[in-house]
Amino acid sequence: MKYGITAATGHFGQAAFKSLSKLVPASDIVALARNVDKAKDFFPAGTEVRPADYTKPDQLAESFNGIDKLLFVSSQPGPGMPRDEQHHNVVNAAKQAGVQFVAYTSFPDADHAQSFLAADHKKTEQWLKESGVNHAFLRNNWYLQNDLATIQMALKTGNFPYSAEDGKVGWTREENYAAGAAKVLTLADPKEVYEFGGKPISYPQLIDFLTDGTGQEIAPVPLTDDVYKQELLKAGLDEQTVGFVIGVQDLIKAGELDVPSNDLNDVLDGNLEALPEGIAKLLK
Ligand SMILES: NC(=O)c1ccc[n+]([C@@H]2O[C@H](COP(=O)([O-])OP(=O)(O)OC[C@H]3O[C@@H](n4cnc5c(N)ncnc54)[C@H](OP(=O)(O)O)[C@@H]3O)[C@@H](O)[C@H]2O)c1
Repeated sequence: MKYGITAATGHFGQAAFKSLSKLVPASDIVALARNVDKAKDFFPAGTEVRPADYTKPDQLAESFNGIDKLLFVSSQPGPGMPRDEQHHNVVNAAKQAGVQFVAYTSFPDADHAQSFLAADHKKTEQWLKESGVNHAFLRNNWYLQNDLATIQMALKTGNFPYSAEDGKVGWTREENYAAGAAKVLTLADPKEVYEFGGKPISYPQLIDFLTDGTGQEIAPVPLTDDVYKQELLKAGLDEQTVGFVIGVQDLIKAGELDVPSNDLNDVLDGNLEALPEGIAKLLK
């Protein structure tokens, strides 16, 4: 059985490789990377690395040859080829190469999600369904790492600003989603949809965990979007980044990440890391 991991040079890809190599022989795993030279620095000597740039359909199909199970890590929105087009290339190449199973990192409750981040994931899920290739949707909730900069700032200033009101998020560290993804690749009879995440909690609850874990008093500072935006601009963030941060606060406020599920804990045999432990690891 050959396993392939796309975007293998990213944090998710590297963590998935580590987790998967504890479950299957590392020699059965192919690291698929846009930049093969960069990938060679990240994986143990002897790891098979193949080129896999989402913007290059022929290269993808060739590199997916002989892969039985593929972990397809979603790309990033940005300049160049639109992300949905990149994803379409990956799905088509997997089909063309005869990949038997694709596990795709998607967005929480993608069937109903309305957020600006969900559209590409909804399309990709649909293309995978239409492809006829067996698949699982790993609908990952929020990486705890996404809030690291705010957490670090709050530890310095004693204030934790947010504008998501009481919106809840299923935070857990990225490595835990990657461990879940690796496990799903090894299952004989995976489900079609996994809603992966920790127990959804609000920012005030996250801040309580932070205070308990660090012994430092941190005050929740609920702001309106407008005031938060001005604070971020004053702190030196550029307009585009600020727009993204506020967009995320809004999708949290709208409940898009409030998707309770035991799927990740179940896939990890009841061993999903507790949030206080995750926070401690993040701050190490
Ligand atoms: N749920 C969440 O909270 C959350 C948060 C952030 C991101 N995400 C999603 O999770 C994915 C993985 O996150 P991450 O932490 O691993 O991100 P990351 O560390 O920034 O890595 C991104 C990876 O995508 C690769 N990539 C970018 N464009 C590509 C292309 N055209 N073809 C092939 N590979 C390409 C990069 O390759 P290079 O090394 O060559 O640049 C890198 O390996 C993201 O791409 C995003 O879709 C989810």
